[in-house]
Amino acid sequence: MRLDKYLADATGMTRTESARAIRGGAVTVGGSVVRKPETHIDENAAAVTLRGAPVGWQAFHYVMLHKPRGTVSTTDPDERSVMHLIPPELARHDMFPCGRLDVDTEGLLLITDDGALAHELLSPRHHAEKVYFFRCDPPLTEAMAETLERGILLDGEMTKPAAVSREADGLSGTITLTEGKFHQIKRMLHAVGSEITYLRRKRFGTLVLDENLAPGECRALTDGEIGALRALAAAQTRE
Ligand code: URA
Repeated sequence: MRLDKYLADATGMTRTESARAIRGGAVTVGGSVVRKPETHIDENAAAVTLRGAPVGWQAFHYVMLHKPRGTVSTTDPDERSVMHLIPPELARHDMFPCGRLDVDTEGLLLITDDGALAHELLSPRHHAEKVYFFRCDPPLTEAMAETLERGILLDGEMTKPAAVSREADGLSGTITLTEGKFHQIKRMLHAVGSEITYLRRKRFGTLVLDENLAPGECRALTDGEIGALRALAAAQTRE
């Protein structure tokens, strides 16, 4: 891989910025300053530093975002796009939200540039679990929850079995889905006579929303979280 591309991928700098840093003598490879942006290096083995600090290269990048209400799960130019919440050191040009949450839903959103992994996790053939906390009004009765669990008719198709647990007053609970139809939870509750007043995604597959992240905050996934998602996608592929 070219050194300027490696540096841009690793740091989030543009190719122009990384080429400028290389020409300026700020970059070493294997301990020696390299001033030619077009120099080819082995991205899996090279020891690269930028202004004395080691630079780590990864093929793909993964960010956990606590999506706030009022933002849109899109890469389209929209001032409300969730992509504006990703700081430059975590953002990469090819990143996109892996799945969608409604504008008024908050919670866990995976942002990545790993198209193959996202495809596996989102594929309707598979069934990565998505767990949501909800509040609703009027209260969800046990009978209504059981109806949701069995499945209801949406868009002419039965929803897949869901798991619903409700607080005693029926005004909140969690619902686990293995599919993602448009406004699914809102429409499911509406169909049994209640309305969602608040919705937050807490888990997507193996990935759990970090409680230390306030709405609008994000962080890079840990190696363990990435490994668990890859293992889940691989297991789903084998099924
Ligand atoms: N179901 C909904 O109704 N909205 C979401 O954002 C996610 C699931």
